[in-house]
Amino acid sequence: MPPEIGPLISPSEKTSMNRRGFLKFCGLMAATLALPSFYARHIASALSAAQRLPVVWLEFQDCTGDTESFLRASPFPNPLQGGNTMPGLVDILLDYISVEYHETIMAPAGFQSEQSLANVLDQYSGQFLCIVEGSIPTASNGAYCTIRGRTALSIAQQVIPQARAVIAAGSCAWDGGLAAAAPNPTGAVGVNQIVPGLSNLVNLPGCPSNVVNLVATIVYFLTYDQLPDRDRQNRPYFAYGEEIHDECERHDYYEADQFVLEWGDTGHQQGWCLFKMGCRGPRTHSNCPKVKWNESTSWPIGAGHGCIGCTTTHFWDANSPFYTPLEDD
Ligand code: SF4
Ligand code: F3S
Repeated sequence: MPPEIGPLISPSEKTSMNRRGFLKFCGLMAATLALPSFYARHIASALSAAQRLPVVWLEFQDCTGDTESFLRASPFPNPLQGGNTMPGLVDILLDYISVEYHETIMAPAGFQSEQSLANVLDQYSGQFLCIVEGSIPTASNGAYCTIRGRTALSIAQQVIPQARAVIAAGSCAWDGGLAAAAPNPTGAVGVNQIVPGLSNLVNLPGCPSNVVNLVATIVYFLTYDQLPDRDRQNRPYFAYGEEIHDECERHDYYEADQFVLEWGDTGHQQGWCLFKMGCRGPRTHSNCPKVKWNESTSWPIGAGHGCIGCTTTHFWDANSPFYTPLEDD
């Protein structure tokens, strides 16, 4: 028998998070979920009573961007900050979830890792949260992505139906992403095409998906024992309900017809609108302007580049060439 393994990432020491920091986290979650601020206390009391949620993270045909996004927000030492970070979103989340299986970061290999997945399915069938990252190739019976001799297709078809809830993290798990761009030689598709009609599916498109939205979705699930309200494409309204253009910090420049016309020109230096440089913000739904990236330090448009619409359907084909301006409405 292989040795028993515990959760892949240890929870942070609960004592390291004081009550004030915890309430701040709950406040951020309430704001991200577009809930009134008094819901922060509701979230706090629900999390305090919550059982740790087992998580199985499946990684298929992808670039590891969603895992990177998750790990960068977790308690790994940050040399730029003297080797330590303040507890981040994922540090806190790890007190409430237990990552039992993750192909990319788990220590076991070969038979042991296969056994690990079997153990989780045996012990937690119908109880675990399944996070899927990456597309699932279907051409040639799924031969383009195999893990320990099994196709991603077969693993997905076995594991996903046993989950209590499923999160497709990133555009690849949503609609096949980059691998599905024409001519899609591997027949890459997303989760909902492998297991159609899943009622417990949350799609979090993005390249990668924003870790704040991933954490908020899990917090909502832990708090209310149900998934957040979603649109027809299973995207939660709190994250994909608004158009980037409407919330953009450069919107006043758009209204004033002040556009960047060339990289580095005066308008670019002054933060004018990027519409004429190909920005897809007017056709993209995402809360990027609010939650931003990298611990809310910046986001693509804030950094001076137009949005390429990475949360929209089949964006690699639909939105490229990325620097060609949209037609005026
Ligand atoms: Fe809209 Fe993009 Fe201009 Fe922002 S930069 S106002 S999203 S067109
Ligand atoms: Fe993607 Fe546009 Fe946000 S490119 S990360 S949806 S600003």
